[in-house]
Amino acid sequence: MSSVTVSVPAKVNLQLAVGGVRPDGFHELVSVFHAVSLYDEVTVTPADRLSLACEGEGIDEVPLDHSNLAARAAILLADRLGREPNVRIHIRKGIPVAGGMAGGSADAAATLLACDTLWRGDTPREMLRRLGAELGSDVPFSDLGGTAIGTGRGERLASVPTTARFHWVFALADGGLSTPAVYGECDRLREVAGEAVGRPAPREELIAALRAGDAYALGANLVNDLQPAALSLRPALAATLTAGMAAGAVGSLVSGSGPTCAFLAPDRETAHVVAERLTGSGTCRAARVAFGAVPGARVLPRRVVPVERENTV
Ligand code: C5P
Repeated sequence: MSSVTVSVPAKVNLQLAVGGVRPDGFHELVSVFHAVSLYDEVTVTPADRLSLACEGEGIDEVPLDHSNLAARAAILLADRLGREPNVRIHIRKGIPVAGGMAGGSADAAATLLACDTLWRGDTPREMLRRLGAELGSDVPFSDLGGTAIGTGRGERLASVPTTARFHWVFALADGGLSTPAVYGECDRLREVAGEAVGRPAPREELIAALRAGDAYALGANLVNDLQPAALSLRPALAATLTAGMAAGAVGSLVSGSGPTCAFLAPDRETAHVVAERLTGSGTCRAARVAFGAVPGARVLPRRVVPVERENTV
């Protein structure tokens, strides 16, 4: 096999309920993950040694060493399969880098699946997800896709089957936000406020809205406990959220740890209007339209190079 390409979606958290800090330093979470149609593509090709290449917007912020989750995924799987991780990993970024949309986790999930296919590891998907959880809390969801409730540190998943298609707009910001820094700011703000931290639980109205395919009810119930922290570190995001709602969105929130802002539109046409107005508002770098839920990581059929002229001599 010469190479394998995997396509993997971004995620937005429809609800991110952050509980207390656990003994391992992670926060107890309830996360309603939703996979949306912004994709990274990861191609792995046999090589003499492990290498990484990256293409797309914002790639200056992607580390090209052993700290990259995709490299760590190849090393982890190779170790489990008792082989060397000798592949060239090529990442084509379509997911905003350090944007709170699980781009790094998506690349790790894609690399696990691509390498397992290339190396004919036949590792069950459930096992790939368990390996993914060792790399990051969001990696198992990037593999699963759809809509799912994550508990624990976000890695224990239960799918929420939905038939409706929801239309989204994502306002991209300049530069990323560090996830540990946002969680740290969340703890600091809670301490300053003397806030009691309850046990996180899924919001029933939100799950009902998802099942009913009701964009208005879903928009009214979007909630992210990390949002005050992201706004504290990046106050300019408040203007982005206001601009998107004024443009016709029915709900808004900071995506994960930010700084990407997510807007739910009532339909596809309105999503395009919201994106256009956001772009014109000067409150974001760019806006992208997407829909959800979409499936998780999947191997793409091999590209057939079109032959224009051919001759056997
Ligand atoms: O698991 P992942 O590597 O994506 O987490 C990145 C960082 O986000 C962690 O190092 C931690 O600071 C924070 N985090 C957390 N609680 C979670 C998930 C992530 O505190 N449940």
